[in-house]
This record gives sequence, structure tokens and C-alpha cells, in this order.
Amino acid sequence: MPDKVKKTPKEESDELLTLDYNNLTEEALGNGKGLSADDFARMKQLLTDAHKEVEARYKNGELPFMDLPRDQEILKSVRKLADMARKKFENVVVLGIGGSALGTSAVFQALRPLNHNDLQSQKRAWPRLTVCENVDPEGFGALLEGLDLKTTYFNVISKSGATAETMSQFMIIYDQLQRTLGRSSIKDHLLVTTDPEKGVLRKIAVDMGFQTLPVPPGVGGRFSVLTAVGLAPLAMVGVNVTELLLGAQKAQDDARRQPQQNKAYVFAALNHLMTREKKRNILVFMPYADSLARVADWFGQLWNESLGKNVRLDGQPNLLAQTAVKALGATDQHSQLQMYMEGTEEKTVCFLGVENFRHVVPIPSIFKEHGELAYLGGHNLGELLNFERRGTARALAENGRPNLSLLLSRVSPMSIGYLLHTLEVATVVSGHLYGIDPLNQPGVELSKNFTYGLLGRDGYSAFNERFNKGLSQKKKYILK
Ligand code: PA5
Repeated sequence: MPDKVKKTPKEESDELLTLDYNNLTEEALGNGKGLSADDFARMKQLLTDAHKEVEARYKNGELPFMDLPRDQEILKSVRKLADMARKKFENVVVLGIGGSALGTSAVFQALRPLNHNDLQSQKRAWPRLTVCENVDPEGFGALLEGLDLKTTYFNVISKSGATAETMSQFMIIYDQLQRTLGRSSIKDHLLVTTDPEKGVLRKIAVDMGFQTLPVPPGVGGRFSVLTAVGLAPLAMVGVNVTELLLGAQKAQDDARRQPQQNKAYVFAALNHLMTREKKRNILVFMPYADSLARVADWFGQLWNESLGKNVRLDGQPNLLAQTAVKALGATDQHSQLQMYMEGTEEKTVCFLGVENFRHVVPIPSIFKEHGELAYLGGHNLGELLNFERRGTARALAENGRPNLSLLLSRVSPMSIGYLLHTLEVATVVSGHLYGIDPLNQPGVELSKNFTYGLLGRDGYSAFNERFNKGLSQKKKYILK
């Protein structure tokens, strides 16, 4: 059996996260590929200006996500729910998508044991968690087949209360609960998290007397993991949400300090400079820990939906952007790395590492007679993974490939809260550096409108007509 690492005393906040950007410098990369002393001098000014602007917007109440780490009210509500869920339910199922789902999945995977859902109930102590994002009939159908509705609590989460995927799931579950347990029991199995006033979901919840939690106005989906959106389901499956918020509080306090030493601002400015000065338009976000794999999905949405804008706030076209893509170390060393090392040079790699893993799994000192294996014995798997991360970072740098590392001292509620909030602030800072609005997502509307048109939603027939226009001509270009 693997040894458990001894519990450490409460972490000092300054140990929570380190940002190492040695491998972005000209010194490390050479041939004009890295950031020079001049670039760093420019960065100083960028940071100062961005800090002034972001502070002004925050003080003006335009960035309410920055106040979330200190919301004590929500903690009270979710603690009550957690007690209830622990006593009464075996399963918590989240119905939500995008910002209403990704943060919950990321934190759950980071902070509950990776086999949480597979453990027998005596060993688990808390309900299982399933986050249903997609409306794939095979995935959702399989879930429905395996669920015992009597022991399942559903949390339908939609800020707008209108998202087709989530509302379809809600309608299916409502119908199933009604048929199986009876209409009067639905409210005992359903929590609705949505806008405090607007939307059809809020209206239905009020009409039917469902328990509700609010998504604070002004907090967009991808910035909402520390609202009821993430905190309620996470508390119900045993995540220490109090410490998660404490870590985020620390990150928020740090983000308000002077920008030159500020991890959120420096992360944003470095990536901005690599994009603007070095044409590095892709950011490979690569955790080296299975528990952090879904943080890459969460970050991908945050970065891409916030920063992929074609018009600047001054009305000029925006020609700069950095697309976040995900990879997982060490797995993707055996799949993607060749391309990062020798392929086209538009990438910066951001490693997300863990210095102390929660488990130590020793590699036994056997097969000593085989030089190809003997060197492994006596190490442990965490060491192997970290040497691989460090070796890969160095190899990329020696090949002139820029990379930086975010390092968590350990994965804990505090450090995850710190990491997520820091990356949210970095995203807003990046928006300012690019001169775009990081809080909207106008580009996703048209595809939704075509879907509504195709499904026959009232008021969207023009999109149906537009979609079908010239369809026979387009068929020429389909091979069967
Ligand atoms: O970040 C966002 O705003 C989006 O990803 C939304 O979270 C997503 O579209 C789901 O929206 P809603 O919560 O309104 O159902």
C-alpha cells in the first residue's frame, strides 16, 4: 500500500503558488526568441498601467468576481446543504455546461480522491458527484439507466436559465422524478442555481417552490466557480470550501499589491509579450498531475472565451490572441511533445506542477542487474513525474522553445483557491493588455441562434431560413 504523506501544518500563503519564468528569457532561449532586458523594461510600464485600470474598474464595482472570496453568506448556505446531502443522498448530479460546470469538475478532481466515485459508501462518507455537461444521448442515457433517483440530488445550474443543453437535461430529470417519485417529491431532490431575478428557470423554481441559490449579477459563468455555482455541489461532496475561499482571498489580496511582484499580473503580461513580440499565439497549458487535468479544461474556457475577441474596446480590429490548448504530463510527452519541441514555433508551454504529492508510491529497488531499470528503483512516482516535468522544461528551452511554470507546493483547498482566483485575475488583466472586453462572449451567440432556429424556437425562424439557404448547392461538396 502507498504511504500517505504526513499532513502538513496549515500552509503559509506565500508557499501556495510559484511562478517560474526563467525559460521565457533571452538568456535561456537565445537567438532573439526570449524576452530581453528591453522587453522586461516595457513590461514594467504595461503592468503599472494595467494595475491602475483594473483597480479603477474594481473600485467602480465592475469586477464583482473579485469580491467572491469574502462572501460569507454563501458559505453558510452551502454548509447547510452539505449536511443535508451527506445525510440523505448517495449521488449529487450537476446539470450545467461551460462556466456552470467546468470549475466544479476541476475542483472536484483536484480535491477529492481520484477514486471518490468508485469507493463504497462506507469509505466515501460523502455523495458521489457527476457533472453532466454534454447532451450526448448515449452519455446521458447511460447515466439515467444507472441512477437510483431516490438517493440522488440534482443541482440544475444555469445563470441565464435558458441554455438549451441544461434546460433539456432539467426537463428530462423533472419528468423522470415526477414519474418515479411523484410530483410532490421533486422539490426534495432538486436545487436550482440561477440568476436571482431573471430567466425562465428562476420563474419555474419560484412557481414550484424549489430551493434556489443565486448566481451573483455581474459574475459571468467562467468566473463563477467561487459562487454557489461551484461551492454548493463541491460542499455537498465533501470539498473544504471554507479553505478554498481562504486561498482565493489570499490571491485577491496579492492581486491588489504592487504589480511587479504580482503573479496574476506578471503571468498576464508575460503571455501578452510572448504573443505580441514573439508571435507565440498558442498557450499549451500542461498540468503534471492527474488531479489537475480538468483545471486545464477550466482554464481553456476562461482564457479562450475571455480573450478571443475580434474588436478592441476602441473599435479597432483586434489582431492579437493566444489560444489555450491542453495537454497532460507525462502522458502527452509520448504524444504531443515532438510537435512542441520541433514543430512550428507559435507555442508557449505553461507547466502546472506539484512539488509535494499527497501520496508517495515508491518504486521498488529490484532488477538491479539491468542498468536500463536499476536507476528507477529507490525513487518514487512523484519524483519521476517531477523530473520529467523539469527535464521537459529544460529540453524545450535548449531547443529555443519558451515555457513557464506554475508550481503548487501541494494540492490543497487553499492552493487550488489561490490558483483559480489568480488565473481569473490574470485573464482580466490580459483583457486590458489586449484592449478588449474579457467579460463578454459575443462570438458564441450565432451558433446558439442557428440551433434555436433549427429546433423551431419562437422568434428564430429567420435563422432556420438563413441556415437552409443554398443548402442544395452546398451538398455538391459532400463526399459519400
Ligand atoms: O462563461 C460563460 O458565460 C458560458 O460558458 C456559460 O457559463 C455557459 O454558456 C452556460 O451558461 P448558463 O450558465 O447561462 O447556462
